[in-house]
Amino acid sequence: MAFYVTTPIYYVNAAPHLGHAYTTIAADVLARHMRQRGEDVFFLTGTDEHGEPVAQAAEKQGVTPKELADRNAARFEALMPQLDVTNDFFIRTSDPRHVAHVQEILQRVHDNGHVYKGSYEGWYCTRCADFKTDNEIGPDNTCLIHEGFPLERESEENWFFALSRFQEPLERLYTERPDFVLPAVRFNEARSFIAQGLDDVSLSRAHLRWGVEVPWDPQHVFYVWFDALLNYVTALKFARDGADLTTTFWPATYHLIGKDILKFHCVYWPALLMAADLEVPRRLFVHGYLLSEGRKMSKSLGNVLDPFDAMDKFGTDALRFYCMRDVSFGQDGSVSPADFETRYETELANELGNLASRTLAMLVRYRDGTVPEADPDPALAGDFDGLAERVAALLDDVQVTAALEEIWQRVRRLNRYVEERAPWQLAKDEEKAGELDVTLRSLAEGLRVVAVLLHPYVPATTTKLLGALGSPDLDLERARYGAAAGGAAVAQLDALFPKTPAP
Ligand code: MSP
Repeated sequence: MAFYVTTPIYYVNAAPHLGHAYTTIAADVLARHMRQRGEDVFFLTGTDEHGEPVAQAAEKQGVTPKELADRNAARFEALMPQLDVTNDFFIRTSDPRHVAHVQEILQRVHDNGHVYKGSYEGWYCTRCADFKTDNEIGPDNTCLIHEGFPLERESEENWFFALSRFQEPLERLYTERPDFVLPAVRFNEARSFIAQGLDDVSLSRAHLRWGVEVPWDPQHVFYVWFDALLNYVTALKFARDGADLTTTFWPATYHLIGKDILKFHCVYWPALLMAADLEVPRRLFVHGYLLSEGRKMSKSLGNVLDPFDAMDKFGTDALRFYCMRDVSFGQDGSVSPADFETRYETELANELGNLASRTLAMLVRYRDGTVPEADPDPALAGDFDGLAERVAALLDDVQVTAALEEIWQRVRRLNRYVEERAPWQLAKDEEKAGELDVTLRSLAEGLRVVAVLLHPYVPATTTKLLGALGSPDLDLERARYGAAAGGAAVAQLDALFPKTPAP
């Protein structure tokens, strides 16, 4: 089956921070997991390069918007391999191929009669690049998303998208598809936004040059959000030379987004697609904020955790693990360097790292580096029963933290098993050779299964570990306890998560 997952495309007016890495890592976990299931996966991320915030940032820095976009898009693009993220394409909205497809699709929306000229006056946030509705305005006309940032009164003559006409089709969509937006709290939020009544929205900007030219009125460029949203479709048109991937991958299986951009994705986007005679995505998953010192981590608040520092110190897998583990995906939660360090030591180094090194060392020491042929312990088999299916079902619903917890319970179970069986005692007694065989075989098999399941979260570590276990196959079918026969040759490994020097 085709599986198409996207992240938001990131603004290039600032450098990447942990918030951007966060969504991207989650999407990568899904993409890698689906590949292990043998699905046909397409994973898209990229940069959102047009619009006022970028034009303003460029002006401040004395460069052209394109120069700023090139410089910062390169930083986002470079972030992906550093995060070990396996995106199939990286879209940049300044790409002329994207521009041409945006023009074609929005021309169709126009020709379908959903666009008109009108004038609009309202409170506008230059950071959000968005006019605010009454309940989106904070005290003294400030932005609620950018806490206290003053809004500007703006009025302009623009092309409008007749969003209000889609009120009923959107209500129908939300009634027919109760899982269109996950989690449920975000579904309800989107639905009540629609129920309050939809105003038409401005589709173009007259005073801005940095954008996609409106084909029927070249004095205007498209409002950046319409140009940006369309990336999810346009990328499929040109990511592979000469192939139109929309036939395979549209509608998208999942758009992953943060809750800051819910309205655009859960309300405007399906309406725009309907207006363009395109199918709406299957589902959207809206995650929460990573908070730092109690507030949303953001460039403008100056409280960002630098993902590059964290990776330098602890490695990419540790960062990936921390992001998916510490804050339940879908909810808000605080992150801090101190928490990161604690998780690293208690869970990665002490639980997974020790389990791996103990298991491999005992196989080398007591059985010459060969996994015994004995049948694995049925007592442990029960703890692994249905595990892969549960993990797959959770990931079908983007429950990335819950799925990781399921797997981690088994890491802990295996550590307890080591203590219960005390293989070093069994090794002292010739008569217990059979028991030792069963114990070591069971540990090797359990460790292999958790490594296959953990692979999407900590890909480099598990690749090393499965190699050392002599069983590199990542197919999810292999995540069944007992799926590998005994007899594999194992090798010792350096510590997977070395204790780090104090900062
Ligand atoms: N360019 C728009 C999105 C257009 S999509 C068609 C945009 N860009 S952004 O650079 O501001 O990135 C927003 C996204 O970054 C959020 O939706 C979320 O995925 C991620 N995050 C940014 N800060 C975050 C946190 N502090 N916590 C969690 N995710 C955060 O909006």
